[in-house]
Amino acid sequence: ADPDALQDFCVADLNASISINGFPCIPASKVNASDFFFDLSKEGVTNTSNLNSSVTPANVLAFPAVNTLGISMNRVDFGPGGLNPPHSHPRATEMGLVVEGSILVGFVTTSNVYYSKVLTPGEVFVIPRGLVHFQKNVGNGKGIVFTSFNSHMPGVVISSTTLFGSQPPMPNEVLTQAFQVDDAVVNSIKSKFGS
Ligand code: GLV
Ligand code: MN
Repeated sequence: ADPDALQDFCVADLNASISINGFPCIPASKVNASDFFFDLSKEGVTNTSNLNSSVTPANVLAFPAVNTLGISMNRVDFGPGGLNPPHSHPRATEMGLVVEGSILVGFVTTSNVYYSKVLTPGEVFVIPRGLVHFQKNVGNGKGIVFTSFNSHMPGVVISSTTLFGSQPPMPNEVLTQAFQVDDAVVNSIKSKFGS
């Protein structure tokens, strides 16, 4: 979904003082072989939240070589029952490969149709750009999924934190009316997302 590149590569200068759509390139003379390789072999720490999952990005911020190339990846680790919660990517379609675990993958279309399947290692899925989706490890052991995106910076909108954890907070009168619940319910959810 990103614009076409105008050169072979443009390894991002993340500290450049100018701001453009994407990042300026570091000079080609300063580019090394190591710029083009990135290690996603390490398991993420999953037990720090009740989601019991962890996303390790290889987007342009983590892996500057993908700057302008219209591509990036994530590694997603799951403990037993771990959830990568409902979210969407405004700038990319996602394709994922299950490497470990039994992973329930689901997404909802703009017509409000829910599609899902439990995938096992070797199976892949696709999430059309912008649609809300999740993965949950429904197996008893660990889960590992590698995801890929047709953007160097797909962006992520996490449904729960967007609505209940924004700073400053979204007004209760909006959320009580939208979800047809009272203030106590909204306050309870907000308290879990720091808003
Ligand atoms: C999974 O949905 C991911 O965004 O990596
Ligand atoms: Mn995703």
